[in-house]
Amino acid sequence: MRFAPLSLFSFLLLLLFTEAMINPVDFLALQAIRKSLDDSPGSNFFSSWDFTADPCSFAGVYCDGDNVTALNLGDPRAGSPGLSGRIDPAIGNLYALTELTIVPGRIMGSLPDTISHSKNLRFLAITRNFLSGEIPASLGELRGLRTLDLSYNQLTGSIPPSIGSLPDLSNLILCHNHLNGSLPRFLSQTLTRIDLKRNNLTGLISPTSLPPSLQYLSLAWNQLTGPVNQVLIRLNQLSYLDLSLNRFNGAIPGQIFGFPITNLQLQRNFFYGVVKPANQVTIATVDLSFNRFSGEISPLLSSVQNLYLNNNRFTGQVPVTFVDRLLASGIQTLYLQHNFLTGIQISPAADIPVSSSLCLQYNCMVPPVQTPCPVKAGPQKTRPSTQCNEWRG
Ligand SMILES: *[C@@H]1O[C@H](CO)[C@@H](O)[C@H](O)[C@H]1NC(C)=O
Ligand SMILES: *[C@@H]1O[C@H](CO)[C@@H](O)[C@H](O)[C@H]1NC(C)=O
Ligand SMILES: *[C@@H]1O[C@H](CO)[C@@H](O)[C@H](O)[C@H]1NC(C)=O
Repeated sequence: MRFAPLSLFSFLLLLLFTEAMINPVDFLALQAIRKSLDDSPGSNFFSSWDFTADPCSFAGVYCDGDNVTALNLGDPRAGSPGLSGRIDPAIGNLYALTELTIVPGRIMGSLPDTISHSKNLRFLAITRNFLSGEIPASLGELRGLRTLDLSYNQLTGSIPPSIGSLPDLSNLILCHNHLNGSLPRFLSQTLTRIDLKRNNLTGLISPTSLPPSLQYLSLAWNQLTGPVNQVLIRLNQLSYLDLSLNRFNGAIPGQIFGFPITNLQLQRNFFYGVVKPANQVTIATVDLSFNRFSGEISPLLSSVQNLYLNNNRFTGQVPVTFVDRLLASGIQTLYLQHNFLTGIQISPAADIPVSSSLCLQYNCMVPPVQTPCPVKAGPQKTRPSTQCNEWRG
């Protein structure tokens, strides 16, 4: 490493005045980091960064003995405008760093791949900035990395396979970027959260690419394809699943309705087949809308509070348990519009609770009750009978 004369001078000054000494490598790294970043107007995070004092006393700098172990850059208070500038490659000289965070702001440029020299890094979170370029494949060398959160940036390229092989990864949050390519295979058996929504990911998901430890999985708003039944069947600890707005197809295993899920979002794909839960479903929200599901609606779904089955190919009568639950205020949303349903047993005088929404429009029946539907359901109350007859063959 080259010691810039001025930096060395400030370091020697510091030597004169303090006892507990940060090591010189970390001292110079902090100086370089400081030089390439600035407070955005309205933030004064760096006001305490006066290099004639011990850097371990600076805002956001945490030391263990003479080593910097955590760096939390920027004023963390809500509404702080954050920092601008770039991340200096000298960040990788902080060998003992275990945690690096930067608050939302206007940081540009790429994440330097020298970050892989901070071998002890466990927590890396730089969200809601303007990071661009690719995610360095060298992050895979940070074998202790548990959380990687680079969400809400401008990252491009694919997710390096090396990230999938991190042995202790537990949270991977890369949502709202421009990542493309396919999903890597994840080897960590303690991975609990993957959020990749709003990227440009493509391709198939192989059955063994996601570990059963997952509790939160969002792949929404990508262009992923193929069936996922063999993938999902293994993920029996999921409490949140969002696969909406992709090009997935194939059937949905009935078992997933028995997982501890509270929110199941599968809308706007090409899923097809019969929806067959094994037991009464206790998920709060189930959205299966805009797919190609068919067959009769299972009465086991009537305990869902918000159920979106609209824009599919469901047929037959709506089970009477749905009407009972609706009138008892047990259902808040029941969207059945744009299917091929042939009837529902509900009295035209039935008193539907004001807190509940029922939409029956554009099915193979005249809705027995008039209820407000979302505007997108269109003005037509009933599906043209030609389509209905065709359907019944
Ligand atoms: C600081 O880091 C150096 C080099 O990584 C290491 O040898 C030393 O033990 C560390 N000091 C403390 C107090 O952890
Ligand atoms: C996805 O890719 C398309 C075509 O390459 C591009 O137009 C679009 O902006 C990209 N979307 C995101 C979220 O990056
Ligand atoms: C991903 O996007 C980059 C440009 O950011 C492009 O060069 C590359 O071909 C794309 N890869 C895939 C698999 O679409």
